[in-house]
Amino acid sequence: MLTLTNVQIMYDRAIEAVRDVSLTVRPGQIVALLGSNGAGKSTILKSISNVLYPEEGEVLHGEIRIGEEDALALSADDIVRRGIVHVPEGRRLFPLMTVEENLRMGGYLHGRAAVAERLERVYALFPRLKERRAYVAGYLSGGEQQMAAVGRALIAGPKLLMLDEPSLGLAPQIIDTIFETIVSLNRDEGMAILLVEQNAALALKVADYGYVVENGRVVLDGPAERISQNEDVKEFYLGFTEGGARKSFRDIKHYKRRKRWLS
Ligand SMILES: Nc1ncnc2c1ncn2[C@@H]1O[C@H](COP(=O)(O)OP(=O)(O)O)[C@@H](O)[C@H]1O
Ligand SMILES: [Mg+2]
Repeated sequence: MLTLTNVQIMYDRAIEAVRDVSLTVRPGQIVALLGSNGAGKSTILKSISNVLYPEEGEVLHGEIRIGEEDALALSADDIVRRGIVHVPEGRRLFPLMTVEENLRMGGYLHGRAAVAERLERVYALFPRLKERRAYVAGYLSGGEQQMAAVGRALIAGPKLLMLDEPSLGLAPQIIDTIFETIVSLNRDEGMAILLVEQNAALALKVADYGYVVENGRVVLDGPAERISQNEDVKEFYLGFTEGGARKSFRDIKHYKRRKRWLS
């Protein structure tokens, strides 16, 4: 349903953020996009939603296709109309609007009836949002804001939901709620998910397939189970040594030079 082929992305025609990325999301799949800070994950999602231009970002080479269609020729609105909806890093709610107003914004391309029906479904999925529906979004907790951001995306009726670091800065219990919701959307509604996460262990637990991105390149990809068995991934992203003990960040830094996929 979504394919990127040899995509290169530059900011300001000067900074090469993504070098040569190819990736595929098939209908009904959960695909994890892993990698450390600055690897290019958010840039990849923005290129798919076609929202790079406000940051002077540009896809200079390669192809992005939604089915057979050339996504680079579509507007950001058209991408949403095709069913690809992006929950950006840092939630990006409208802080002065209420929860319900934020949710309704997700439906700006849709009719009243569709929005009303989806709103009820979002409230069923996140009862907490229903309780908070009249609250101003800027005063919600981080977890509630993430629920509202996911809810707003769901109002747009996605076939493919793209989530940029949904667990960032949230308490474990809230992370569980968010991830359970992601899994149930996938399992019960067949929604495809493209999940960007720094928490590799969490992402690989729910994903079918994974890509590891470093310095704007895909350095490793494969079925999630295989990725999580990879010794380098265990060491550098899951924080485990071969004996199963947790490594300190200092050790990880020290061993970084040894990464097999870069040598
Ligand atoms: N608006 C921007 N202008 C210039 N450089 C940017 C911009 N956004 C991101 N970059 C650079 O592009 C690279 C990839 O960033 P990003 O996609 O945000 O990584 P990730 O999401 O994996 O942390 C980084 O080197 C970052 O500094
Ligand atoms: Mg990012």
